[in-house]
Amino acid sequence: MTRRAWAAVLVALAGCDGASSWPASMARQPAVQPLQEARPVPAHSIPLGGVETLADREDDADLSPPAPLDADAVSRGRVLFATHCTPCHGPEGRGDGPVSAKFPPAPNLRFVTICNRSDGFIYGTLTAGGRAMPTMREGTSSRDRWDLVAFVRALQREGCVSPPPPPDGGAR
Ligand code: HEC
Repeated sequence: MTRRAWAAVLVALAGCDGASSWPASMARQPAVQPLQEARPVPAHSIPLGGVETLADREDDADLSPPAPLDADAVSRGRVLFATHCTPCHGPEGRGDGPVSAKFPPAPNLRFVTICNRSDGFIYGTLTAGGRAMPTMREGTSSRDRWDLVAFVRALQREGCVSPPPPPDGGAR
């Protein structure tokens, strides 16, 4: 017999040594059974929803950028901004994106209040989200978010403006 034929015999024999090793029913296979956890959480992993919350944003305020917020970072940030931020903040970051008509309006990123934020606070806003702004952590890396900070800073170098008074005239 050729080697290949012997291999075929061995495989056949292995399959015949009882139903336990050669299940004939689709129910008996390594699959998720009813009421079983879909996929156990791997050891040392951190649940996606459990990393940072709004309360952690302040903690990031004194972070400094790990790399200079230079022209390269600004140009990478510009591309990311078009994808992640323009729906709310508008193409030039003036708070006039289409989502702002239906959602708590996103501010003009040149408002003095935002100009006065630290780089770390803006990074923290992107990581943890704001009071109404969702977290931008999904789909961006830490470096992406620093590049976005660089782009926000570039917008602000065009000149910072005072935010309009709140419509009810009251304190926020
Ligand atoms: C779903 C709409 C939405 C998207 C998308 C969004 N923002 Fe915002 N953003 C808001 C709103 C609303 C606020 C103001 C209220 C708040 O704090 O959440 C805000 C506030 C901010 C602030 C000011 C935070 C502060 O309190 O000083 C910055 C900076 C900012 N956004 C940057 C970004 C950048 C950069 C992106 C893209 C990566 C982005 N946002 C994406 C809605 C959005």
